[in-house]
Amino acid sequence: MVAVAAERGGASPTPESPADEIARLRESVAHHNRLYHELDSPELPDVEFDLLVRRLRELEEQHPDLAGGQSPTSTVGGVASATFAPIEHAVPMMSLDNAMDEPELRAWGERLERGLDGADARLVCELKIDGLAMSLRYERGELVYAATRGDGRVGEDVTANVRTIADVPHRLPSGAPEVIEIRGEIYMPVSVFDELNREATEAGERLLVNPRNAAAGSLRQKDPSVTARRRLSMWAYQLGEVVGGPTVDSHRAALDLIASLGLPVNPEVRVVDGLEEVVSLCRHWQEHRHDLDYDIDGVVVKVDDLAQRVQLGHTARAPRWAIAFKFPPEERTTRLLDIQVSVGRTGRTTPFAVLEPVFVGGSTVTMATLHNQDQVRLKDVRPGDLVVVRKAGDVIPEVVGPVLSERPGGLAEWEFPSLCPCPVGSQLERAEGEADTRCVEATCPFQRDQRIIYWASRGAMDIEGLGERTVAQLTAAGLAADVADLYTLTAESVEGLDGFARISAEKLVAGIDASRGRPAWRVLTGFGIKHLGPTAAQSLAAELGGVREVLEASEERRAEVSGVGEVISASVSEWWSREAHRDLVDRLERHGVDLGVAEGSVASDLEPTLTGRAVVVTGTVPGHTRESAQAAIVARGGASPGSVSAKTFALVVGDGAGASKLTKAEKVGVPVVPADRFDELLASGEIPG
Ligand code: IVH
Repeated sequence: MVAVAAERGGASPTPESPADEIARLRESVAHHNRLYHELDSPELPDVEFDLLVRRLRELEEQHPDLAGGQSPTSTVGGVASATFAPIEHAVPMMSLDNAMDEPELRAWGERLERGLDGADARLVCELKIDGLAMSLRYERGELVYAATRGDGRVGEDVTANVRTIADVPHRLPSGAPEVIEIRGEIYMPVSVFDELNREATEAGERLLVNPRNAAAGSLRQKDPSVTARRRLSMWAYQLGEVVGGPTVDSHRAALDLIASLGLPVNPEVRVVDGLEEVVSLCRHWQEHRHDLDYDIDGVVVKVDDLAQRVQLGHTARAPRWAIAFKFPPEERTTRLLDIQVSVGRTGRTTPFAVLEPVFVGGSTVTMATLHNQDQVRLKDVRPGDLVVVRKAGDVIPEVVGPVLSERPGGLAEWEFPSLCPCPVGSQLERAEGEADTRCVEATCPFQRDQRIIYWASRGAMDIEGLGERTVAQLTAAGLAADVADLYTLTAESVEGLDGFARISAEKLVAGIDASRGRPAWRVLTGFGIKHLGPTAAQSLAAELGGVREVLEASEERRAEVSGVGEVISASVSEWWSREAHRDLVDRLERHGVDLGVAEGSVASDLEPTLTGRAVVVTGTVPGHTRESAQAAIVARGGASPGSVSAKTFALVVGDGAGASKLTKAEKVGVPVVPADRFDELLASGEIPG
C-alpha cells in the first residue's frame, strides 16, 4: 500500500493536509472494507489494507480535532448485507489486534505483564486460519443458526449453507449445554481450491482468486447445493454465549469441551509458558505455513486463564488478552510496467509481467508469470495498472489481478502479439482447443537458446557456469547453434566474449568438458523430449542401458518399463524419428559425449509393487537418505511426491517427521506406515498390517 498511499500523495504538487488525507483514507478504507466484507472480492492484499487503516488511525490520534464523525476505524469488519437476514450476536464477535513483527509481539507481552500486575500468564498459541469467522448457536443440542461476524454486533444468517459443511454437526451429543455458541473459522482446504481451479481452467471459467475468497463466496450462495459442492471445512476456536453445562476456567478446557461435542479443533494448538516459546512457534509456522492443507496468515496468542482475561478486559474493538502475530505478506501491490512474452524450448509462449520492483514473499520481485493468453484476458490486467502480486513459498511469483479502483483513465486492453518476439519474428499459432500460443518456426533463435539452457541446467547435464546470459552470448557470437556445438568450444574461441578473460573461458570449457561423462539419464533428460522427465529417464536408463539403447528400443519395450508407459514411449519414438535428432546424437558422440554411462540408476530386477501409487516419506527412514527412499519407491513403479493428498497411497513416518503431514494424512484417511516397516511396504506393495 505504501504504493497506493505514496503514489496518491505524490501525485499532487503540494503536500496533502491532514484533513484531506483523513478524508481520502476514510473513503478508501470504507471502499475496500465493502469489497472485502460484503462483496467477497477484495482488491487489496490484507497487508495493504491494514496499512491504510493504521495510517488513518495514526492520523486520527494525532489530530483528535479532525477525528469527528463516522470513521471506519471505529467499526469492526463489515456491515451485514441485505441478502441474508440479520442476526444479533448474544456476545459480540470481537476482532484481534495485530503484531506485525517480533518487537510488536514482545511489546504486547510487556503490556500483558503490566495488566496482570507482574503475574505470569500461561498462553495458548493457535494458527490464525485465513477463512471466515462463524458463530454456530446450538440450543438443547440442535443447531439453530450459523451467523457471520458482520460488524461484530450483527451478522448474517447463513444457516442453510453452513448445514452443508460436513465438519459442522447439526446436533450435539446428549449432555451438551442448554445453549452454546461455538465460534471458529470456515475455510476451503487448499487441495479443494486447487481442484476447483483445475476444473475451472479446463472449462475456461474464471478462476477463484484465493481459498479465503472462495470460502466467502461459497457461503453467500443462495442455493445451498452450490455451497455443498465447495467442500468447506471448519476449525472451532472460541465459545460465545454458554448457558448450563460444565464450567470451564481455561481456554484449553473450552477447546476440549468444543472437541468433546464433536466439532473440529485444530491439532496444532499449543499451551506455552512464556513469550520465547511463542516467538519460536511463530517462526516455525512462518516457515512451514505451506505444509498445511489450509491457508494461515499468522499465529493467534491467547491468555489461557479465563479469570486473567477478565482482569485484562478489552478495548472498543479487540481483547487485550489476545494478539494476532501476522506473517509477512505473500501478496503486495505494485505497478505493472509492461507485459512481454517469453518463448520456451518447445516454442510455447508465456506472457509475463514486468513490474516495478516489490518485496514480497521474502524476495524482491521484478517479473511474474501471467500463464497464458486466456489468463491475461480473464484477469484483464493492463500495462499501467496497479496489480496484486503473489509469491507464496517456493512457487513462482504471479499476478493475481488489477486493483480496478486504482486504474488510471485511458488504459488500453492488452493484445497478445501475433509475431514471435525473436529476431525472426514469425507468425505465432494457437491450435484449436489449446490454451497455448506457439512459435512453430524451426529456426527460432529463442527456442534454440532455451534448448541449450535446458541441456545445461541442474536437472539435466548440470554444466557449471553455463547459464542464460552465457548461452545468449555464445549463440549471438555464432559459436553454438545447438547443444552438440558446446563440445567444440575452446578457451580461445570463448575468450574475448563480453566478460570472459582467459581464466573464465577455461573454466567454462572445463565445465562443459566435465559434462561429457554424465550418466545416460541426464543426456536423455537434456534432449527435452516431451513428457520425458528425469524420473522416467532414470527408469529407462536403469532398465535398458545407454542413450542409444533407450532410443533404439521398440516402443513396446520402453512402455513396459515401470513408471514409463505408452505416452512417454510414443513421445520418445516421435523424437527419435527425426533426422535432425539422429544427427544430433551422432555429433554428440563424435564430440566425446559418453552415451553409455549408467550411474545413479536403480536395480532393474525389482518387482513393480507400487505401480501407480504415491507414497510420501516424512522424517528419517533407517538405512536410507530421503533421496534413496524416494528412489526405492520410484524403482518399484511408484511416485514419491512431497505432500499428502487424498490420493496418497501411504505416508511413511520416521524420526523427526513434521506433524503437518501426519495431521493431513489422518484428516484425509491416508494409511500411516512406521519407517521400520518401509521395506515390507516396498516388498509387498501392501500396507503392513
Ligand atoms: S480468536 C476475540 N482464533 O482472525 C478473539 N480468531 O483478525 C476472537 N481467526 O475475526 C477471535 N484464526 O476470523 C481467533 N485461532 C483463531 C483464529 C481467529 C483465525 C480470525 C477470526 C478473527 C480474525 C481477527
